[in-house]
Amino acid sequence: MTDHIKVLKSEGVLTLAFDRPEKKNAITDAMYAVMADQLEAAETDTQIRTILIRSEGDLFTSGNDVSEFAMAAMSGTGLVNVARFIAALGKATKPIVAAVQGKAVGVGTTLLLHCDHVIVADDVQLTTPFVNLALVPEAASTILLTARIGHARAFTMFALGEAVGAADALAWGLANQVVARDALDGVAADFAQRLAKQPLGALVATKTLMRDAAAIQRQMEAEGAVFAAQIKSPEAQEAFMAFAQRRAPNFGQFA
Ligand code: COA
Repeated sequence: MTDHIKVLKSEGVLTLAFDRPEKKNAITDAMYAVMADQLEAAETDTQIRTILIRSEGDLFTSGNDVSEFAMAAMSGTGLVNVARFIAALGKATKPIVAAVQGKAVGVGTTLLLHCDHVIVADDVQLTTPFVNLALVPEAASTILLTARIGHARAFTMFALGEAVGAADALAWGLANQVVARDALDGVAADFAQRLAKQPLGALVATKTLMRDAAAIQRQMEAEGAVFAAQIKSPEAQEAFMAFAQRRAPNFGQFA
């Protein structure tokens, strides 16, 4: 268990909030476990009609806890709960709303590709720096991001980890709306409430028709196999050590 995910159920809306601001909401295995449990349970919980993902603090999330990447690589153990979490996102049939402020790094951005309505604050910075860590993208983002924004933009996001700001996120279809930072939570809660009042059967059927869940699961598995090999690579070890030592990595030493 962890208290770094806040869970709230109210008037048909399940709200899940990252709450580890001292570590920039970096997501640990324990946090993924809670998120996965909640998403899985929401599928059959008749009280839940809409899911809202948000966060406490000045940024959405700095992505996977990098020290846990290093531990997983050393111990050879799989990243079980992150896999459960992204699989649950891919299979979710109830609508998901996201409220995103500040930085959304790695899975913080790729999870948005599984959300149905993304509201960003005007200070948002979306990044997918998997390659910067000598890793590969996950959560089926190698097909979903490409389909959403085109190969050229997706490749630059993946290859260089460059940030996408609010205006581009809106123009490229990564976000539905941009709002002032102090309006974010209110706008997101109102939108989730609107969805919760819609006929759930029709909403679920519509979302299901709009997504190829089987293709998403297949891509997650393909990415997962490459990710598992890459996380043990010398270049990934160098990336994790450089992060811990707060220095730039030196990838030039690896062929
Ligand atoms: N995993 C583990 N710890 C993290 C983290 C992460 N993803 N992101 C931040 N932290 C920790 C830092 O190590 C630091 O811990 P410390 O206070 O014990 O030294 C604390 O959170 C504050 O982070 P800091 O880097 O000082 O904050 P910042 O405002 O200068 O920068 C970020 C914020 C998000 C830009 C920066 O922390 C960052 O780049 N994090 C890594 C992002 C990443 O590569 N994620 C994985 C993507 S696949």
